[in-house]
Amino acid sequence: MRKPIIAGNWKMNKTPEEAVTLIEELKPLVDDAEAEVVVCVPFTDIVAVRDAVRGTNIGLGAQNMEWRDSGAYTGEVSADMLKALGVEYVIIGHSERREYYNETDEAVNKKVLKALEKGLTPIVCVGEKLEEREDGVTDEVVRRQTKLALKDVPAEDVSKVVIAYEPIWAIGTGKTATSEDANNTIKVIREAVREVKGDQPAEEIRIQYGGSMNPKNASELMKMSDIDGGLIGGASLKADDFSKVVHHK
Ligand code: PGA
Repeated sequence: MRKPIIAGNWKMNKTPEEAVTLIEELKPLVDDAEAEVVVCVPFTDIVAVRDAVRGTNIGLGAQNMEWRDSGAYTGEVSADMLKALGVEYVIIGHSERREYYNETDEAVNKKVLKALEKGLTPIVCVGEKLEEREDGVTDEVVRRQTKLALKDVPAEDVSKVVIAYEPIWAIGTGKTATSEDANNTIKVIREAVREVKGDQPAEEIRIQYGGSMNPKNASELMKMSDIDGGLIGGASLKADDFSKVVHHK
Protein backbone atom coordinates (compact mmCIF):
# COMPACT_ATOMS: atom_id res chain seq x y z
CA MET A 1 0.00 0.00 0.00
CA ARG A 2 1.20 3.49 -0.83
CA LYS A 3 1.18 5.81 2.19
CA PRO A 4 -0.51 9.12 1.31
CA ILE A 5 1.74 12.17 1.47
CA ILE A 6 0.38 15.68 1.95
CA ALA A 7 3.01 18.37 1.41
CA GLY A 8 2.59 22.10 1.87
CA ASN A 9 4.37 24.32 -0.62
CA TRP A 10 4.67 27.68 1.10
CA LYS A 11 6.30 29.27 -1.98
CA MET A 12 7.72 32.75 -1.20
CA ASN A 13 5.74 33.29 1.99
CA LYS A 14 6.50 33.56 5.72
CA THR A 15 9.39 35.06 7.65
CA PRO A 16 11.00 32.72 10.21
CA GLU A 17 8.84 34.18 12.96
CA GLU A 18 5.65 33.71 10.95
CA ALA A 19 6.80 30.22 10.01
CA VAL A 20 7.19 29.18 13.65
CA THR A 21 3.75 30.57 14.51
CA LEU A 22 2.20 28.50 11.71
CA ILE A 23 4.04 25.33 12.76
CA GLU A 24 3.04 25.76 16.41
CA GLU A 25 -0.60 26.05 15.33
CA LEU A 26 -0.28 23.09 13.00
CA LYS A 27 1.41 20.62 15.34
CA PRO A 28 -1.57 19.64 17.53
CA LEU A 29 -3.88 19.60 14.51
CA VAL A 30 -1.90 16.99 12.58
CA ASP A 31 -0.21 14.92 15.30
CA ASP A 32 -2.60 12.01 14.68
CA ALA A 33 -2.44 12.20 10.88
CA GLU A 34 -2.52 8.97 8.93
CA ALA A 35 -0.81 10.64 5.99
CA GLU A 36 2.85 11.61 5.84
CA VAL A 37 2.89 15.37 6.50
CA VAL A 38 5.54 17.67 5.01
CA VAL A 39 6.09 21.41 4.82
CA CYS A 40 8.29 22.76 2.00
CA VAL A 41 9.49 26.13 3.21
CA PRO A 42 11.66 28.97 1.88
CA PHE A 43 15.41 28.45 2.47
CA THR A 44 15.41 31.27 5.00
CA ASP A 45 12.83 29.44 7.17
CA ILE A 46 14.56 26.07 7.22
CA VAL A 47 16.45 26.43 10.49
CA ALA A 48 13.52 27.88 12.41
CA VAL A 49 11.12 25.26 11.06
CA ARG A 50 13.58 22.43 11.71
CA ASP A 51 13.68 23.42 15.37
CA ALA A 52 9.92 23.87 15.54
CA VAL A 53 9.10 20.44 14.03
CA ARG A 54 11.69 18.49 16.01
CA GLY A 55 10.08 15.44 17.65
CA THR A 56 6.85 15.80 15.64
CA ASN A 57 5.43 13.94 12.65
CA ILE A 58 5.94 16.96 10.36
CA GLY A 59 8.65 16.44 7.74
CA LEU A 60 10.88 19.26 6.53
CA GLY A 61 11.24 20.11 2.84
CA ALA A 62 12.84 22.74 0.61
CA GLN A 63 11.39 24.10 -2.64
CA ASN A 64 14.39 23.85 -4.93
CA MET A 65 18.09 22.97 -5.01
CA GLU A 66 21.06 23.20 -7.33
CA TRP A 67 22.27 19.89 -8.82
CA ARG A 68 25.98 20.75 -8.71
CA ASP A 69 27.84 20.03 -5.47
CA SER A 70 29.58 23.37 -4.92
CA GLY A 71 31.37 26.19 -6.70
CA ALA A 72 30.74 29.51 -8.41
CA TYR A 73 26.92 29.40 -8.61
CA THR A 74 25.83 32.62 -6.99
CA GLY A 75 22.54 32.40 -5.19
CA GLU A 76 22.25 28.62 -5.35
CA VAL A 77 21.93 26.04 -2.57
CA SER A 78 23.27 22.48 -2.80
CA ALA A 79 21.86 19.16 -1.64
CA ASP A 80 24.61 18.85 0.99
CA MET A 81 23.67 22.26 2.38
CA LEU A 82 20.05 21.17 2.71
CA LYS A 83 21.01 17.85 4.26
CA ALA A 84 23.25 19.60 6.78
CA LEU A 85 20.22 21.55 8.02
CA GLY A 86 18.08 18.45 8.40
CA VAL A 87 16.02 18.81 5.23
CA GLU A 88 14.43 15.53 4.09
CA TYR A 89 12.35 16.47 1.03
CA VAL A 90 12.86 18.83 -1.90
CA ILE A 91 10.40 20.01 -4.53
CA ILE A 92 11.97 19.76 -7.98
CA GLY A 93 10.75 21.23 -11.25
CA HIS A 94 7.78 23.15 -9.92
CA SER A 95 5.99 24.80 -12.85
CA GLU A 96 6.84 28.24 -11.44
CA ARG A 97 10.52 27.34 -11.62
CA ARG A 98 10.12 25.89 -15.10
CA GLU A 99 8.29 29.02 -16.24
CA TYR A 100 10.07 31.90 -14.46
CA TYR A 101 13.57 30.44 -14.07
CA ASN A 102 13.79 28.41 -17.27
CA GLU A 103 14.21 25.11 -15.50
CA THR A 104 14.44 22.41 -18.17
CA ASP A 105 13.60 18.71 -18.10
CA GLU A 106 17.33 18.05 -18.21
CA ALA A 107 18.00 20.17 -15.11
CA VAL A 108 15.04 18.53 -13.36
CA ASN A 109 16.56 15.11 -14.08
CA LYS A 110 19.98 16.17 -12.74
CA LYS A 111 18.36 17.49 -9.57
CA VAL A 112 16.37 14.28 -9.08
CA LEU A 113 19.53 12.19 -9.43
CA LYS A 114 21.44 14.43 -7.03
CA ALA A 115 18.64 14.45 -4.45
CA LEU A 116 18.53 10.64 -4.48
CA GLU A 117 22.31 10.38 -4.27
CA LYS A 118 22.25 12.60 -1.17
CA GLY A 119 19.30 10.88 0.48
CA LEU A 120 16.70 13.60 -0.06
CA THR A 121 13.18 12.67 -1.21
CA PRO A 122 12.48 14.52 -4.46
CA ILE A 123 8.91 15.73 -5.02
CA VAL A 124 8.99 16.13 -8.79
CA CYS A 125 6.34 18.30 -10.43
CA VAL A 126 4.84 17.58 -13.84
CA GLY A 127 1.80 19.06 -15.51
CA GLU A 128 0.36 20.60 -18.64
CA LYS A 129 -0.29 24.24 -19.50
CA LEU A 130 -3.80 25.38 -20.39
CA GLU A 131 -2.94 25.55 -24.13
CA GLU A 132 -1.57 22.03 -24.01
CA ARG A 133 -4.73 20.79 -22.36
CA GLU A 134 -6.85 22.57 -24.96
CA ASP A 135 -4.71 21.11 -27.75
CA GLY A 136 -5.33 17.62 -26.36
CA VAL A 137 -1.67 16.86 -25.60
CA THR A 138 -1.87 16.55 -21.80
CA ASP A 139 -0.96 12.87 -21.81
CA GLU A 140 2.06 13.37 -24.08
CA VAL A 141 3.30 16.28 -21.95
CA VAL A 142 3.15 14.44 -18.63
CA ARG A 143 4.52 11.22 -20.10
CA ARG A 144 7.51 13.07 -21.50
CA GLN A 145 8.17 15.07 -18.32
CA THR A 146 7.88 11.91 -16.20
CA LYS A 147 10.21 9.80 -18.33
CA LEU A 148 12.81 12.56 -18.60
CA ALA A 149 12.69 13.30 -14.86
CA LEU A 150 13.34 9.62 -14.07
CA LYS A 151 16.05 9.09 -16.69
CA ASP A 152 18.95 7.04 -15.21
CA VAL A 153 17.13 6.57 -11.90
CA PRO A 154 17.64 2.88 -11.03
CA ALA A 155 14.37 0.93 -10.85
CA GLU A 156 14.97 0.16 -7.18
CA ASP A 157 15.16 3.89 -6.35
CA VAL A 158 11.98 4.92 -8.12
CA SER A 159 9.80 4.32 -5.06
CA LYS A 160 11.89 6.93 -3.19
CA VAL A 161 10.61 9.57 -5.62
CA VAL A 162 7.29 11.36 -5.21
CA ILE A 163 5.65 12.83 -8.31
CA ALA A 164 3.23 15.76 -8.07
CA TYR A 165 0.84 16.09 -10.97
CA GLU A 166 -0.06 19.76 -11.14
CA PRO A 167 -2.09 20.99 -14.10
CA ILE A 168 -0.64 24.48 -14.43
CA TRP A 169 -4.01 26.09 -15.13
CA ALA A 170 -5.22 24.83 -11.73
CA ILE A 171 -2.39 26.33 -9.67
CA GLY A 172 -3.49 29.25 -7.52
CA THR A 173 -6.52 29.85 -9.73
CA GLY A 174 -9.21 28.20 -7.66
CA LYS A 175 -9.84 25.86 -10.61
CA THR A 176 -9.27 22.21 -9.81
CA ALA A 177 -9.15 19.33 -12.22
CA THR A 178 -12.16 17.09 -11.60
CA SER A 179 -11.14 14.16 -9.46
CA GLU A 180 -11.77 11.82 -12.42
CA ASP A 181 -9.58 13.90 -14.77
CA ALA A 182 -6.82 14.16 -12.18
CA ASN A 183 -6.97 10.43 -11.51
CA ASN A 184 -6.89 9.60 -15.21
CA THR A 185 -3.83 11.75 -15.84
CA ILE A 186 -2.14 10.28 -12.79
CA LYS A 187 -2.81 6.82 -14.24
CA VAL A 188 -1.11 7.97 -17.45
CA ILE A 189 1.90 9.05 -15.38
CA ARG A 190 1.94 5.70 -13.58
CA GLU A 191 1.86 3.87 -16.92
CA ALA A 192 4.79 5.98 -18.14
CA VAL A 193 6.73 4.90 -15.04
CA ARG A 194 5.78 1.29 -15.79
CA GLU A 195 7.05 1.55 -19.38
CA VAL A 196 10.49 2.73 -18.37
CA LYS A 197 10.98 1.20 -14.90
CA GLY A 198 8.67 -1.84 -14.65
CA ASP A 199 5.65 -2.97 -12.65
CA GLN A 200 6.88 -2.77 -9.08
CA PRO A 201 8.24 0.80 -9.27
CA ALA A 202 5.01 1.87 -10.99
CA GLU A 203 2.88 0.37 -8.22
CA GLU A 204 5.07 1.77 -5.44
CA ILE A 205 5.72 5.32 -6.58
CA ARG A 206 3.50 7.90 -4.91
CA ILE A 207 1.82 10.43 -7.17
CA GLN A 208 0.19 13.50 -5.65
CA TYR A 209 -2.31 15.89 -7.14
CA GLY A 210 -1.65 19.63 -6.84
CA GLY A 211 -3.52 22.73 -7.97
CA SER A 212 -6.06 24.54 -5.78
CA MET A 213 -6.46 21.52 -3.51
CA ASN A 214 -8.27 22.69 -0.37
CA PRO A 215 -10.39 21.50 2.57
CA LYS A 216 -13.47 21.32 0.33
CA ASN A 217 -12.14 19.16 -2.50
CA ALA A 218 -9.43 17.13 -0.73
CA SER A 219 -11.60 14.25 0.35
CA GLU A 220 -13.01 13.66 -3.14
CA LEU A 221 -9.55 13.81 -4.73
CA MET A 222 -8.02 11.54 -2.09
CA LYS A 223 -10.68 8.88 -2.64
CA MET A 224 -9.47 8.26 -6.18
CA SER A 225 -7.55 5.05 -6.88
CA ASP A 226 -4.28 6.57 -8.06
CA ILE A 227 -4.05 9.85 -6.13
CA ASP A 228 -1.61 9.31 -3.27
CA GLY A 229 -1.61 12.74 -1.71
CA GLY A 230 -1.44 16.43 -2.46
CA LEU A 231 0.97 19.29 -2.99
CA ILE A 232 -0.80 22.21 -1.40
CA GLY A 233 0.04 25.87 -2.05
CA GLY A 234 -2.46 28.48 -0.86
CA ALA A 235 -4.24 26.17 1.58
CA SER A 236 -0.98 25.28 3.32
CA LEU A 237 -0.50 28.83 4.62
CA LYS A 238 -3.19 28.50 7.28
CA ALA A 239 -2.90 25.75 9.91
CA ASP A 240 -6.62 25.10 9.98
CA ASP A 241 -6.96 24.70 6.19
CA PHE A 242 -3.82 22.59 5.85
CA SER A 243 -4.82 20.27 8.70
CA LYS A 244 -8.22 19.73 7.07
CA VAL A 245 -6.51 18.72 3.84
CA VAL A 246 -4.19 16.42 5.83
CA HIS A 247 -7.17 14.67 7.45
CA HIS A 248 -9.30 14.94 4.26
CA LYS A 249 -12.40 13.42 5.82
P1 PGA B 1 -2.09 25.98 -5.07
O1 PGA B 1 -0.55 25.65 -5.43
O2 PGA B 1 -2.55 24.92 -4.10
O3 PGA B 1 -2.06 27.35 -4.47
O4 PGA B 1 -2.85 25.92 -6.36
C1 PGA B 1 -0.12 24.33 -5.58
C2 PGA B 1 1.34 24.34 -6.03
O5 PGA B 1 1.71 25.16 -6.87
O6 PGA B 1 2.15 23.51 -5.56
